[in-house]
Amino acid sequence: MSMATNITFHPGSISHSERSQSLRQRGVTIWFTGLSASGKSTIACALEQHLMHLKKFSYRLDGDNIRFGLNKDLGFDEKSRNENIRRIGEVSRLFADSCCICLTAFISPYRADRAIARELHNESGLEFIEVFVDAPLDVVEQRDPKGLYKKARAGEIKDFTGISAPYEPPVDPEIHLKTNESDVTDCVRIITDYLSGKGYI
Ligand code: PPS
Repeated sequence: MSMATNITFHPGSISHSERSQSLRQRGVTIWFTGLSASGKSTIACALEQHLMHLKKFSYRLDGDNIRFGLNKDLGFDEKSRNENIRRIGEVSRLFADSCCICLTAFISPYRADRAIARELHNESGLEFIEVFVDAPLDVVEQRDPKGLYKKARAGEIKDFTGISAPYEPPVDPEIHLKTNESDVTDCVRIITDYLSGKGYI
């Protein structure tokens, strides 16, 4: 694949704050990270519902779903995951820049990749709220809703996060949810309290 040359960035004529005032909404990315079956998608879906009831414009980007389309060319080796998260960092920044409350639910196992996505947002003056969806490995393995942990333990799936591929937990996430202690409603409330404290909702 070759790199683009002779390209010029076109800033457009609407500033982010103009758009934000006109739409009466500030854009932000809520970045869920955690092991498979930790609860990322479930909480993101419930939060999306809640935001819709508040008449807020939000959109969810979900690991499994995005891998059917935009990222269908990527697997689960380290380089593919780096590229997966690089692209989602870019896409979520665009959504947030459009004044959307963008919800991303990806394992995003590498700290450095999440830091790049955060930096990308910060460079555009957009906030990046990292939500650690935390559940111990034995708990998620017990849940195993898709039977993937069982297959990974049997050696039928290679590079499986938590079993044969790493997960680097956030060191200082904005929000830390413990899904073996709090239910979905509690988790959504913790996030909406945070958003409301920051004036997003
Ligand atoms: S990553 O690590 O951020 O690039 O992964 P992500 O795009 O979120 O995709 C995770 C979902 O893919 C399924 N799956 C796997 N997960 C981890 N490791 C391996 N090897 C793997 N193979 C398939 C799995 O359904 C994940 O979904 P969640 O919702 O996390 O359970």
